[in-house]
Amino acid sequence: MTGEGTRAVHGPAPRPVLQDPVTPAVHRTTTFLFDSAQHTADVFSGAEPGWSYSRVDNPTASGFADAVAALEDRTGVATGQPFASGSAATATVLMALCSAGSHVVAPQQVYGGTWALLTRQLARFGVQTTFVDATDVAAVAAAVRPETALVWAEVLANPSMTVTDLPAVAAVARDAGVPFVVDATFASPVVCRPLEHGADLVLHSATKYLGGHSDATGGVVVGAPDLVARIRSVRLDLGGALAPDEAFLLLRGLQTLPLRVARQCATALELATALAAHPKVLRVDHPGLPDHPGHALASRLFDAGRYGAVITVAPRGGREAGLRLVDGLRLVERATSLGGTHSNAVHVPTTTHKDMDPASLAAAGIDEAAVRISIGLEDAADLVADLEQALSAL
Ligand SMILES: Cc1ncc(COP(=O)(O)O)c(C=O)c1O
Repeated sequence: MTGEGTRAVHGPAPRPVLQDPVTPAVHRTTTFLFDSAQHTADVFSGAEPGWSYSRVDNPTASGFADAVAALEDRTGVATGQPFASGSAATATVLMALCSAGSHVVAPQQVYGGTWALLTRQLARFGVQTTFVDATDVAAVAAAVRPETALVWAEVLANPSMTVTDLPAVAAVARDAGVPFVVDATFASPVVCRPLEHGADLVLHSATKYLGGHSDATGGVVVGAPDLVARIRSVRLDLGGALAPDEAFLLLRGLQTLPLRVARQCATALELATALAAHPKVLRVDHPGLPDHPGHALASRLFDAGRYGAVITVAPRGGREAGLRLVDGLRLVERATSLGGTHSNAVHVPTTTHKDMDPASLAAAGIDEAAVRISIGLEDAADLVADLEQALSAL
């Protein structure tokens, strides 16, 4: 009879899984058993496929990346890599593609976290970035230098919902012989699949639409297998692995992605249309509106009738009016992030863009009153009513 400690750790063998479960298993383990020392060596060397350590690869996390790859690439060629967050994915891609002395072309409208990675972190290692107006393809081309290592873009940029001409920017990157990396977080593959428009890598904060329930943090990168293999090897060194529990939640969320995003896009367009006609509204940014500068491009690149589910609305009355609009909301929640089932709102100049002074905000086309709303799954009529009551109180 072994001792209590041994029996506590090495209890009865787990019950066998006699049939395949309907849902993916959560492989909540950091390490995996080997049959022999030789088996261990063979898996470590790659001579035999196998799992070794969950920072390297985990079946649940890899399963999530495979599922996103299947949504992003309908030809079934692309592979994916899972990450602990969208930021971990971004940092890893940048570290994989850049070296000291490299140069990056990125949009002026880039997500603030990506801007910080480029300007605060990568810059310390001798990587320079030129930020250009991503809607000006000639400016993107003019920014390319011999040492340019990649061109970065976002499908839809925060908070003005700027639309990038993906095929045109892809052509610039192709001419320069460098990878074109597209952050598609605001779109999701239900709206636009950048690999179909010339991107080499597509990246997501899975924390947003892919998970879709505001309960899991993750990231993912999808692209051609050889390029993704390079990204994976840097992921192992940087350590931004996706946890199995988060991967399970993200996989569960993915099953309803098409349903959620289709409805969120339809509701967003309805709300944007109502807001654009409201007398207390100065400006509405949503590419579904015919007067948005990216409308024609979005109609060409995006799946029919889908323009994303984020709206930026500026009430008349400046900064104070924007803050009061947020405070007046009863159904839409005061919270950051996007892509969840609950609609939420933030006043842009005091939150996501708080580091920008009034002149920089104006240069970036962001009104001092701008309020960003992420549309959830509530009924459109209730959201319209909530915005109308909040606007009428201004
Ligand atoms: C466009 C975009 N990319 C990347 C990220 C970073 O993702 P995460 O918060 O999962 O690190 C965000 C987060 O808001 C984002 O909006």
